Amino acid sequence: MTGIIGAMDVEVAAIKAAMQDTTDKVISGIPFYTGTLHRRPAILARCGIGKVNAAVCTQIMISVFGVDEIINTGVAGAVAHGIRQNDIVIADKFVQHDVDTSAIGDPPGFVSTVNRIYFAADSGIAERLRAAIGDKAHCVTGTIATGDQFVADKAVTEQLRQRFHAAACDMEGGAIAHVCTLAGIPFGAVRCISDSADENAVMDYPTFAAKAADTCAAMVLAYMAQLPVNG
Ligand code: ADE
Repeated sequence: MTGIIGAMDVEVAAIKAAMQDTTDKVISGIPFYTGTLHRRPAILARCGIGKVNAAVCTQIMISVFGVDEIINTGVAGAVAHGIRQNDIVIADKFVQHDVDTSAIGDPPGFVSTVNRIYFAADSGIAERLRAAIGDKAHCVTGTIATGDQFVADKAVTEQLRQRFHAAACDMEGGAIAHVCTLAGIPFGAVRCISDSADENAVMDYPTFAAKAADTCAAMVLAYMAQLPVNG
């Protein structure tokens, strides 16, 4: 079964509308919708914004619902040059840009215990996402930088480019990646750009987020449609 996580209602609405045979359950305040998408078994959750909400949701999907893989969908801020509103970013890896123990000698983003900066997405999921998207949207593959921060400052965006070569920024992907890595569950993310994570982001985000979220949801549905029916 595929687990699909979006942070906000707007990010899961189109997927929920396409879901059939749905059963709802709320755990830790998070709504989980179990059912089928294009006849493939799926569970969808609206985790809420930020890393802790995303981590709690991911662990519940794994421990309670027994998902085989997790896809994160939603909007993102553009970080790499040349990425624009409505472009799609598929994650090949994630970094938690707000993890910082550099004062005691670690590189920025280094997560002790798992001892890494980057959490690699599952290459099979990334490949299937790319195939599903095809030429439906302009799509790049790259690093998603996650933090408990809505980035709206070009100095911060520049730092995410310099330090981590990030393509886009969000507030959940790195936490989902971290939990999935601990549990050995394959994961991936597809994000659609709503803003450029600079001083214009505060104005652009409310205008473009709903359309970007729907574009991204359509990509998740295309992904589900190409999975084997009994997979
Ligand atoms: N999601 C969409 N835009 C974002 C931004 N600018 N910063 C963090 N997460 C986002």
